[in-house]
Amino acid sequence: MLPNKKALKIIEKYIKIYDGKNEDEIKRSLIKDLLKNDVLVKTKDGTFTLKAESEDELMHSNVGALTESIYKFVEPSNIASIKQPKILDLCSGLGYNATTALHYNKNAHIDMVEVCEEVLFLTLFLDIPYKEHEIIKDKVREYFLNKKGIEYASNFDNVHVYVMDAREFICKKKTDYHAIFHDAFSPKRDPTLYTYDFLEMLFFNTKKGGVLISYSSSIPFRSALVDCGFEISEKESVGRKRGITLAYKCPNFDVDRVNRTDERVIALSTTALPYRDESLSLSSLEIENFRRELRKQLKDDLIRIDKFISTKRIKKGKVPDYIINIQEEALSSSKVIKKMRSEFFGDEKFFIKFSSNGCL
Ligand SMILES: C[S@@+](CC[C@H](N)C(=O)[O-])C[C@H]1O[C@@H](n2cnc3c(N)ncnc32)[C@H](O)[C@@H]1O
Repeated sequence: MLPNKKALKIIEKYIKIYDGKNEDEIKRSLIKDLLKNDVLVKTKDGTFTLKAESEDELMHSNVGALTESIYKFVEPSNIASIKQPKILDLCSGLGYNATTALHYNKNAHIDMVEVCEEVLFLTLFLDIPYKEHEIIKDKVREYFLNKKGIEYASNFDNVHVYVMDAREFICKKKTDYHAIFHDAFSPKRDPTLYTYDFLEMLFFNTKKGGVLISYSSSIPFRSALVDCGFEISEKESVGRKRGITLAYKCPNFDVDRVNRTDERVIALSTTALPYRDESLSLSSLEIENFRRELRKQLKDDLIRIDKFISTKRIKKGKVPDYIINIQEEALSSSKVIKKMRSEFFGDEKFFIKFSSNGCL
């Protein structure tokens, strides 16, 4: 899913006339145009965001675009305490997460990946109230001017801008990131970047001790993270009831557990069947449809072998005692989930295997 089509069309007009010298002029007119068309929205902390393709969703929560990037991504990633953190800023959009990351650690190396040129362009005309926004603007300026054949070299070499599908990027890039900001639209709207196959590529590119962070707490997403080998955890979120997801690779400390209801649902419910995209090229609709069909099949198969428990019952804790007791053990959430699956289905990789084979 992309940002709002009307907004992108408006921005496109200005990209065509941009020459690096007319930024003030463009700023006055572009912002006015977007506000007049009701596609640019001021959030509660005074920073701006765009409407998404489906108009009832914004690119950021109304709590504040900058607030979100501080509390949902940068602070929980702990990058301030790392000497030279390498960060993958997926779906970098208007550049809030990258700007905030530099504000918290000026030595950060950041790869920004965004599929939509227009959103990136808009950051040149926004005022994110951190001086590090100038670094991001300069890199974006370099991208657009060079593309037009206008020579411009930014002085900052610790930030790189990649305008491409994150799936294509991750197939080409081999780095070990300390932190991955996974800031895609919600999986219900677009599961493309929430598949087991994409997340596994992110796992391979995460440093030992590193963390992937997402505002999403979706069950198939968390389930896929467990299957990839991440230790999942959660943290309270600003502006949302459900917590954000933190997924660590080989942490050398005890990670906080996710809530007990989610542990059970991820371990036992058909909701935990992950999204799949083995070729890393399927459309959002294809991914959605494939999972829906497979989930129906899974439910039928589980009923047949007398292993189906409805999500409602699982949420209420109505599962066999020998399974629920595993939650009392001093284990991480990922280990609890794997053990519950192993004892109930006979295989800790039950869901991922079913999604590969299409049968029990
Ligand atoms: C929720 S917004 C992210 C906001 C952003 N992090 C910021 O600081 O402004 C989601 C972004 O993901 C981008 N996007 C959607 N699909 C993508 C893909 N397959 N690869 C890379 N970016 C994608 C959209 O264009 C949009 O800008």
